[in-house]
Amino acid sequence: MIGNTRIGPSARCQGLRPKDFEFDGQGPLYEQLARALKRAIIDGRFSPGRPLPPTRSLAKTLNLSRNTVLGAYELLCAEALATTRGRAGTWVASDVQAALPAGSASSIAAPSRYAARTRRLPAPTLGARKPPTRLDLHYGEPVTDPRLFHSWRRKLAAAALQAGPRYPDPVGFRPLRRAISERVARRRGIVCTEEDILIVAGTQQAVTLAARVILDEGDPVVIEDPSYQYVADTLTAHGADLKFVATDEHGLMTSEVQAHAARMICVTPSHQFPSGSILSLERRLELLKIASSHGSWILEDDYDSEFQYQGRPLPALRSLDLGDRVIYIGSFSKTLFPSVRLGYVVCPAGLRADLCAAKRMDDLGSPAIEQAALAAFIQSGQFAKHLRATVTELRRRRDVLIEGLRRHAGAHIEIQGAQSGVHLVVWLPRLTFAQLDRLIELAGERDLGLYPIHPSYRVRPPHPGLLVGYAGQTSPALKTAAALFGECLESLHAETRKSLS
Ligand SMILES: Cc1ncc(COP(=O)(O)O)c(C=O)c1O
Repeated sequence: MIGNTRIGPSARCQGLRPKDFEFDGQGPLYEQLARALKRAIIDGRFSPGRPLPPTRSLAKTLNLSRNTVLGAYELLCAEALATTRGRAGTWVASDVQAALPAGSASSIAAPSRYAARTRRLPAPTLGARKPPTRLDLHYGEPVTDPRLFHSWRRKLAAAALQAGPRYPDPVGFRPLRRAISERVARRRGIVCTEEDILIVAGTQQAVTLAARVILDEGDPVVIEDPSYQYVADTLTAHGADLKFVATDEHGLMTSEVQAHAARMICVTPSHQFPSGSILSLERRLELLKIASSHGSWILEDDYDSEFQYQGRPLPALRSLDLGDRVIYIGSFSKTLFPSVRLGYVVCPAGLRADLCAAKRMDDLGSPAIEQAALAAFIQSGQFAKHLRATVTELRRRRDVLIEGLRRHAGAHIEIQGAQSGVHLVVWLPRLTFAQLDRLIELAGERDLGLYPIHPSYRVRPPHPGLLVGYAGQTSPALKTAAALFGECLESLHAETRKSLS
């Protein structure tokens, strides 16, 4: 059995039998299959540079849907363990050893439960990229602004003299904490002081610290479906029992949260990641009520609310939190650039000491020079100026992209979640998932990088769609990308018509 799926006993596929594939029962079937195939590649059962079984026959052998097999192959490709060769199918990468993490070919048993859980995690789908394309619409790219780097370099040089060589304050550089507390009060309606702010190495560290402080192995955690993979993975590695709760056009479906009596609830209320919906005020209030009745902690990931294109955002969930249950997380990965690895937590009073202790034990504090540079950057007004210019530029890029997509593919697409942030979703309601794969392939042949949204979902959405990041491309490039996208759709439809005639 694979989950609830019975494997056909007699089917055969290139000499493979169902028992050649070990499914670990964790997560969606396509992820389980991808891990089983990965093990087979590591063990040498599939050789580098050789084809993987055709999707149809493998699906038949394992009594799975072809979409499941396609999804698994896509994950292998995203991890550079395999490559697609158009109609010739999917092949094990010829340099597969280079794509495998060091030591993955070794057979040593996982030394701890943490390591065992980490080994079972699916391949990252957000970070992993196929060979980079010229017009890459990958999510997570920063806006590169030479003026920013010029100012940042000067601030770093000055900060290096000021910060000195001693260990930093583990909870963060006080002037930076003060600047952040003033900013979140002004921009996000959060009443706090510098004492409530903990400086961390981005959202990622904030989540690991919160997990360590709040959760024991097996504790239930509600997480949105779809979700940000790095948060889900961090919590899974920690040993949390993830309860995926669906989202709709008003964000997390809070009516389904209650039943899980969760220790922690992870939300992206300002701009659900990646679907783009905004958590309604009614649901915000309901969520806070649930949290106070169950004693749950809410992790508010406010990752992109600085980029608003239609009016002001709703204030942060934390600003409504009278019960002191919300751990608010902000990051400089989008407002500056992700390599700076700085973010902050507005700690609930009840957790402040625990979170600060966990941070101290993790790394004795974030790098002092970067923190001092950032404090000076904010205090001088350059940060606010940089943000205004970035919002203007991002709005331009977003508008060009939307206009182009509507012009070249308007009849075939639905655009969602474009009111803020650095990405939007393009739904393709008339395509099948297999057609989406082909569309992505056709785009790749034209040097256009497209990325499916369904790997971010636990339960596959009814239609295929694309997670389109536009921060990393200029407006002219996005105009070209939209035209190419229309061309790819036309080619796809022409191929479909041909195959039917
Ligand atoms: C949903 C979400 N949360 C948080 C982040 C930022 O994470 P970090 O601060 O660790 O770079 C991102 C960045 O892409 C994101 O998409």
